[in-house]
Amino acid sequence: MWRRRMSAAHCSSRGRRVSKGLLALFCLWGLLSPTCAARFGVSRQSFEVKKHLKRLNKPAVKSIQSPDGDVIDCVHISKQAAFDHPFLKDHKIQMRPGYHPERLFDEDKEPENPKQRVNPITQLWHQNGKCPEGTVPVRRTKAEDVLRASSVKRYGRKKHRSVPQPQSADPDLVNQSGHQHAIAYVEGGKFYGAKATINVWEPKVLNPNEFSLSQLWILGGAFGQDLNSIEAGWQVSPDLYGDNNTRLFTYWTSDAYQATGCYNLLCSGFIQINSEIAMGASISPVSGLHSPQYDISILIWKDPKEGHWWMQFGDGYVLGYWPSFLFSYLTDSASIIEWGGEVVNTEADGHHTSTQMGSGRFPDEGFTKASYFRNIQVVDHSNNLKAPKGLNTFTEQSNCYDVQMGKNDDWGHFFYYGGPGRNPKCP
Ligand SMILES: *[C@@H]1O[C@H](CO)[C@@H](O)[C@H](O)[C@H]1NC(C)=O
Ligand SMILES: *[C@@H]1O[C@H](CO)[C@@H](O)[C@H](O)[C@H]1NC(C)=O
Repeated sequence: MWRRRMSAAHCSSRGRRVSKGLLALFCLWGLLSPTCAARFGVSRQSFEVKKHLKRLNKPAVKSIQSPDGDVIDCVHISKQAAFDHPFLKDHKIQMRPGYHPERLFDEDKEPENPKQRVNPITQLWHQNGKCPEGTVPVRRTKAEDVLRASSVKRYGRKKHRSVPQPQSADPDLVNQSGHQHAIAYVEGGKFYGAKATINVWEPKVLNPNEFSLSQLWILGGAFGQDLNSIEAGWQVSPDLYGDNNTRLFTYWTSDAYQATGCYNLLCSGFIQINSEIAMGASISPVSGLHSPQYDISILIWKDPKEGHWWMQFGDGYVLGYWPSFLFSYLTDSASIIEWGGEVVNTEADGHHTSTQMGSGRFPDEGFTKASYFRNIQVVDHSNNLKAPKGLNTFTEQSNCYDVQMGKNDDWGHFFYYGGPGRNPKCP
């Protein structure tokens, strides 16, 4: 009872001093009066939000407060949201992949050019604790996170199809809903995985409903309604996370972003086994201009025995897997692999966005200025990591964001990519 009164008081008299998010929370807790609800736009949706939060946030063995405001819940491995999936009710968790692709490069070796030395990376929440063994770290979803989405159903899902389609002749499809890319890709074979080491930056994102990301795409099928995609990398997405931090993310869909799939662990699908790395958590530190450089390695590969798609972060963290039943085409193999950057250009004020891709600098500026992908590899039919054959590049508007490939002994196949967006040549 007191709670209801208190929330009413907060809603009426102190509305201007307390943040909207906090008020929305009071409103949610108090199950509040309709006026309070209407005033802060929570309305009937609040019940739906609560229900959704309960689905996503499983009881924690331990919770860790991250310096960036996140709460990381250490959830018992068998209690993670993946197991809400009807197909996973009796699933036996695989604690290790059946097969690990042979490495092509010794990535721990010092580069011949000492100027290209890069540093190890971690996640910000590690500063405040660790998850016990037998648990997985899950970034807790807050009511504000869900309320920023256009609807509860859309939370954690991409609004638009977001796969660069280099071969399309249809310009409307190429310039999909303002998404812009600068990528390298291979196609026309059967691929069983891909790897890359991705330079990590914190690009400026102009509007909250834009984002900037750097990732790899594992694609199966044609670019139709049933496109299968597995994606991983880093992103800055104010809409999804409520801040401008660079975060580790994954995405999957088996129907071209329509009804299936989501970011990170925001739906049942990915099964996490690792207790050290949290999907959606901030990466720290990030690279700076003329400053120390940081990069992350991501390997995604298919276990030939069980058919699951596994993900490894860095050289040692096997994060978990996407069970093969989630997919149609990818149940067999991938037909296209893409690596690179993507931004959303909403053109909110009538010209091209100044949301940055990569470091916000063009490729020709090179190391410590432009962002890169290095040691680009694919997994072949015999489960070996191989240099990709017939690597191509693609960008919609190279005056806004560009990509430049190269090859050397230290970095294997690599490319620099990105740009500032709006500039005199990209009005
Ligand atoms: C995408 O749109 C821009 C601006 O409208 C245009 O200049 C560019 O040529 C388009 N790209 C492709 C590949 O059609
Ligand atoms: C994120 O960056 C934008 C643009 O630079 C800025 O306007 C906004 O206040 C930032 N948001 C947060 C939560 O820091």
